[in-house]
Amino acid sequence: MAGADVHMCQTIFPAHANHRGELSAGQLLKWIDTTACLAAEKHAGISCVTASVDDIQFEETARVGQIISINAKVNRAFTTSMEVGVKVTLQDPLTNIQKLISVAFSTYVIKPAGGDKINLKPVELLTAQDFLEHALAAERRKIRLEHEHVFKNLMQECAMDNEVLDYVCNKKEDAVSTDHTHVQSIELVLPPHANHQGNTFGGQIMAWMETVAAISASRLCCLPPTLKSVDMFKFRGPSTVGDRLVFNAIVNNTFQESVEVGVRVEAYNCEEWAKGQARHINSAFLIFNAANKTGELLTFPRVTSTTKDGLRRYYGAISRRRIRLARRYVLLKKEDNCIPLSWDQSNQVYIIKSNIAALSALAAKPGWEITSTLAHIKMFSLKERDALSVKVEMQVQVSSELAFSLLSDFTLHVHWDPWCSTCRVIKSVTREDKIYHITSPPANGNKPNDFLILVSQRQPCKAGDPYIIAVRSVALTSVPPSNKNYCRNEIQCAGFLIYGDGNSSLVSYFVQGTPGILSCFAANLAGLSKSIEETACMCTQYLELETSKDKCIQLNNTESSTVP
Ligand code: COA
Ligand code: ADP
Repeated sequence: MAGADVHMCQTIFPAHANHRGELSAGQLLKWIDTTACLAAEKHAGISCVTASVDDIQFEETARVGQIISINAKVNRAFTTSMEVGVKVTLQDPLTNIQKLISVAFSTYVIKPAGGDKINLKPVELLTAQDFLEHALAAERRKIRLEHEHVFKNLMQECAMDNEVLDYVCNKKEDAVSTDHTHVQSIELVLPPHANHQGNTFGGQIMAWMETVAAISASRLCCLPPTLKSVDMFKFRGPSTVGDRLVFNAIVNNTFQESVEVGVRVEAYNCEEWAKGQARHINSAFLIFNAANKTGELLTFPRVTSTTKDGLRRYYGAISRRRIRLARRYVLLKKEDNCIPLSWDQSNQVYIIKSNIAALSALAAKPGWEITSTLAHIKMFSLKERDALSVKVEMQVQVSSELAFSLLSDFTLHVHWDPWCSTCRVIKSVTREDKIYHITSPPANGNKPNDFLILVSQRQPCKAGDPYIIAVRSVALTSVPPSNKNYCRNEIQCAGFLIYGDGNSSLVSYFVQGTPGILSCFAANLAGLSKSIEETACMCTQYLELETSKDKCIQLNNTESSTVP
């Protein structure tokens, strides 16, 4: 079979469904995990275990008689782990209409026999979509690995949030205690629940968790709940045939039309069981809603808890909801033309991700047309329905490392970029992500412009990858637009990709036009102005001059160190 994709098709039978004839979410999670695991093992050539599954949203409900198609593909292999992208679609055989149910991303880790050290081979990239997913996988990995850190920060902030203080100080009379939503259940892991090596399937554990969580949610609504989304599943440790798995679930919080249920899974082998020594293997947070017979969504009551843990989990649910909404907001705003994203602690990881993702997506788009060429500079344009983008390619006699370090520090742009009059760092979010305030000279007799931009710089993950410097506008309450002095301009997506070849590099600058900067592009594309090419020439000269300075310094250092 060619390619690395794995496909699964299933007709939904009554055994897969609940009493309303709807495909049970647990069954779907099992199929997703099996398909994704088989894609991972196809790439790795050895057995793999589920490390985590990113947030999943379920957009549609599937019913008995309909057909589910699941496609899984390894997007990127890291060292011992790989990201698998999974797309689930639903087909109605009567109408042939296809609908998207979900897109999920799981991480699998190789388990070589005898504990050998093996590194995964890279994924072969064939299409523009492969290249794009490959680039985005690195960003998703960052979010995955930083999730706990972001959550902890938000928990601290949440404790000071007014709504929560209000809750703590004046417990609402109408709030319902979550105590009666506690559910405990046990499962014995048998061979059909495990793979050929005796490890419990991750999908099976997710399915059991969903069952227990749904029972917990139903205690609050007296209606069968429907799973809408799952926060990241992380498999902390393995479980095998013979383990007893104890599931504890309770409602953590309610949000108008949804409820968050948390589930903790502990495993015991026979010996541990007798001694009461538990292994914590998983915790997950599932979001349900519930509709009545006419399809109207139920409003959940406010909840309260009698325990300290309950209160902590109440905060936790608020923080997770903020992260989920921020993520959705960023994904929705991706196509928006000129509204800057408001920067705050809950959404910064997602804005950074979307910054890199937008530049990678722009670079990978087909249809770039060459519009002008100089000796070492080529200009391309890409016209889409509602956007105009420009790419300027510069061949420079500079190593890619040096080009990257000079271009990623925007305070150095004042030395060559005529559009950059002043530049100062407003916030160093991480070593690789900074927010700058830039002013630029007035155009056509108007006020000078200013920009508030996030610059995210990334080193190549492996040989052949480019250095990335992604730029987009953000909004910060501490630096509001000053209508008196400047006209605030927005950059939706811009930046540099740098490919190195020894002492020379190909530097590509991209910018997606928004109304504020389109007039300048239009003049360039129409040949009425040469400002883009001129700026590119100045950039090239600056980079090459800095290289010769760098060489002189190195030469002097070598000479002084060889002087006896
Ligand atoms: N999400 C995604 N990847 C993760 C991760 C997470 N939550 N935690 C660790 N990883 C990745 C690391 O990034 C690393 O990848 P790399 O080698 O490509 O850089 C790889 O896993 C190994 O990391 P390491 O820190 O050495 O491993 P660990 O000691 O944290 O173990 C598991 C990670 C997943 C192997 C371990 O937690 C485990 O065995 N979990 C149970 C898996 C299982 O049995 N699942 C089925 C259901 S029971
Ligand atoms: P946390 O308590 O920080 O949320 P845990 O991993 O301990 O993290 O638990 C995850 C979720 O599982 C909790 O948020 C809660 O909803 C549920 N849970 C944990 N322990 C219990 C328990 N003893 N009884 C009922 N539900 C529990």
